[in-house]
Amino acid sequence: MLQPLDTTAVDHPALEADLEYASLLREPELAGAHLGGERRRVERTLAAGGWGFSSPHALLLVRPMPWDTAHFGVSCADLLRLYELDETAPIELDALIDAALGEARRRGVGLLSARLGVHQARALHALERRGFLLVDTSIEIGTRLPLTAAPPPVAGLQIRAPRGEDQRELEAIAATFRANRFHRDSRVPAERARGVYTSWVTAAAEGRHGRLLVAELDGRVAGFCAYVPAGDGEPVVTIGLAAIAPPHRGRRLFESLVCACAEEAAARVLVSSTQVSNTATLRAFARLGLLPYNARHVLHGWL
Ligand SMILES: CC(C)(COP(=O)(O)OP(=O)(O)OC[C@H]1O[C@@H](n2cnc3c(N)ncnc32)[C@H](O)[C@@H]1OP(=O)(O)O)[C@@H](O)C(=O)NCCC(=O)NCCS
Repeated sequence: MLQPLDTTAVDHPALEADLEYASLLREPELAGAHLGGERRRVERTLAAGGWGFSSPHALLLVRPMPWDTAHFGVSCADLLRLYELDETAPIELDALIDAALGEARRRGVGLLSARLGVHQARALHALERRGFLLVDTSIEIGTRLPLTAAPPPVAGLQIRAPRGEDQRELEAIAATFRANRFHRDSRVPAERARGVYTSWVTAAAEGRHGRLLVAELDGRVAGFCAYVPAGDGEPVVTIGLAAIAPPHRGRRLFESLVCACAEEAAARVLVSSTQVSNTATLRAFARLGLLPYNARHVLHGWL
């Protein structure tokens, strides 16, 4: 009953079960655009060498992770979606997961991460039975634009583009952020886990991975915010990584950075995600009106 995915997967009915922005933008006339977003996700994943399997009621999608593979020195892939038409229906869950793991092993994947909606308990348990470990739960938050709240003015604060001479300070600030799923996996060396954020800020500063804005306070770098501008048919700006230098935390600098990202011209919606445990970030985002619209568990499986 299982089919390896090909481009006809874009017509699979299960895609309608997990429309990324549907609960943030609920207008019925946007249903087609939401479905289009999931179809593009399937197309992009397959075009990037991804794979997956479908059954009549479900579709499982895995993408290779070339950056992670180079950084960790082990082949990495991500089971980014398990679309289930009806989570109570008897989908061929075990067969789907075993097919995905078999294919991952055949391709030499060492670390397979997996993202599941927090309601997908059966899939969570099926992965746990196969040795996967829960390493994070992330909340997806968002708001329509323009923002209705404004950040408090901070004397001496300037939000600007990054400069080459910022690099050391940006990396030092990024290194203070330890809450990532790699730090929670004892098989990942701490120095490699730390390097995820320092490499990310460098790539964003150089325009290789989204864009970066820098908060400068009294002439010194005090924080940054990396974001992906609207594009690919979706008017959505996504905040990826942000951090404020420890001496400057609690002064609402983060809000000024987020507001500057929100001014991205083509965007109608601002979204981000963070660990459910990151209450400081969630409180700062909430002040700007970003509210939860989804939550996903993240698991690691060493094959
Ligand atoms: C989360 C973070 C970006 C917030 O930036 P900020 O400019 O300090 O934000 P705010 O001043 O609005 O404070 C937000 C919350 O941080 C917490 N906070 C306040 N002062 C703090 C301090 N000195 N040290 C640590 N946290 C503090 C509080 O919970 C505060 O919320 P509250 O005022 O409602 O209680 C910053 O704390 C940080 O860089 N943390 C580490 C990196 C991180 O978690 N990044 C987010 C990933 S997307």
